[in-house]
Amino acid sequence: KKPPVRVAITGAAGQIGYSLIFRIASGEMLGPNQPVILHLIDLPFAMAALNGVVMEIQDCAFPLVKGIVATDNQAIGFKNVDYALLVGAKPRGPGMERGDLLKDNGKIFTETGKYINEHASRDIKVVVVGNPCNTNCLILANQIKDIPKENFTAMTRLDHNRAQHQLADKLGVHTTDIRRIAIFGNHSPTMVPYIDQMTAKNHKASVDQQWVSQTFIPTVQQRGAEIIKARKLSSAASAGNAAMNHITTWVNGTAEGDFTSMAIPSDGSYGVPKGLIFSFPVAVKNGKYSIVQGLPISHFYQGLLDKTIKELVDERNAVDHLLK
Ligand code: NAI
Repeated sequence: KKPPVRVAITGAAGQIGYSLIFRIASGEMLGPNQPVILHLIDLPFAMAALNGVVMEIQDCAFPLVKGIVATDNQAIGFKNVDYALLVGAKPRGPGMERGDLLKDNGKIFTETGKYINEHASRDIKVVVVGNPCNTNCLILANQIKDIPKENFTAMTRLDHNRAQHQLADKLGVHTTDIRRIAIFGNHSPTMVPYIDQMTAKNHKASVDQQWVSQTFIPTVQQRGAEIIKARKLSSAASAGNAAMNHITTWVNGTAEGDFTSMAIPSDGSYGVPKGLIFSFPVAVKNGKYSIVQGLPISHFYQGLLDKTIKELVDERNAVDHLLK
C-alpha cells in the first residue's frame, strides 16, 4: 500500500460533507490502495456536529483511514494537504442579492486562499464546490503565490453528469455510453451543455435541435431547483458524488478520445477572457488536464457562450476589490 495522502473537506459538518466523507474514506475517490488522512474543516459553531461525524467515521472501522483531523482552525486544517474539496460556503439567504452572496463568500475564499498558500502541499489539487463556485475559485486562486494556478478548479461535473443522464435516457442507452459532451461556462443557469460532438456507443449521435433547446438545456440548467422542490433539501448526494468524480478523473485521466468538464483558469481558448474560471471540455492524462481545442461552435452555441462569459465577467467585476 502507498503512504497516506491528506484530503481536506471544508463544510465537513454539512449535507454534502455527510454524503462525501464516508465514500472518500471507503476508497471510492482515490482507489482501494490509497490510504487517507481526513482533514475535516468547519466553522466553530459546527464543531459538535462535526464530532458526531468523526465518531461515525471511527465506527465504520475503515481500513484506509489512517487519521482524522477535525478542526475550525484552517492553519491546522490545510497543513500538508494533498487534495481539498472546498464545500463550505455561505448559502444564499432569503432576499439576499447575488452581489451580497459574492461579497460574503469572497471573504471566506480570500482567507482560505491565504491558508492554503501558506500550509498546504505545493502539489495540492483543489476543487471548489461552494457557490458561486467559479468566482469563489477565482478569488481563492488570486491569493496563491507559490502553487501553480492550474491546481485550482471549480466543479461543473454535476452539470456534466446531469446532462449525461438526460441524453442516455433520450437515446435509450446507458449513461456510460454517452461520450464527448461537455459543460462550458459558469456553474449557474447560464451554463452551456455542449453536445454537438456526442457519441453513443462510440457512434456519432444526434438529437433534434428543438428538444435540445426547449427541453434538454433547461432541464439540465434547472435540475438543482427541481430537486430542492422534490426533496425540500438541496442535491447533496449527487453533488458529493460529482466532487469525487472530479478528483478521480483529475488523478486517473479521461478515456482516449473522450473528455470531461472542469472549471479551470481560462487561457483564452474559445474566446473566453484569460484568467476567468470557466468550465471547458478537458482531456486529462498523468494528472494534468488540457482544454480540448477546435470543437466546432455553432451560431446557436456561440450565443449561449456569450451569455455565460458575460455573466462571469460581471461576477469578476463585482469582486474586483478582492482581486488586487
Ligand atoms: P450545508 O449548509 O449543509 O453545509 C455547509 C457547511 O459549510 C456547514 O456545515 C457550514 O457550517 C460550513 N461552512 C460555511 N462556511 C464555512 C467556512 N468558511 N469554512 C468552513 N466551513 C464552512 O450545505 P451543502 O448542501 O453541504 O452545500 C454546500 C455548498 O455547495 C453550497 O454553497 C451549495 O450551493 C454548493 N453546491 C454546489 C454544487 C455545484 O455543482 N458546484 C452543487 C450543490 C451544492
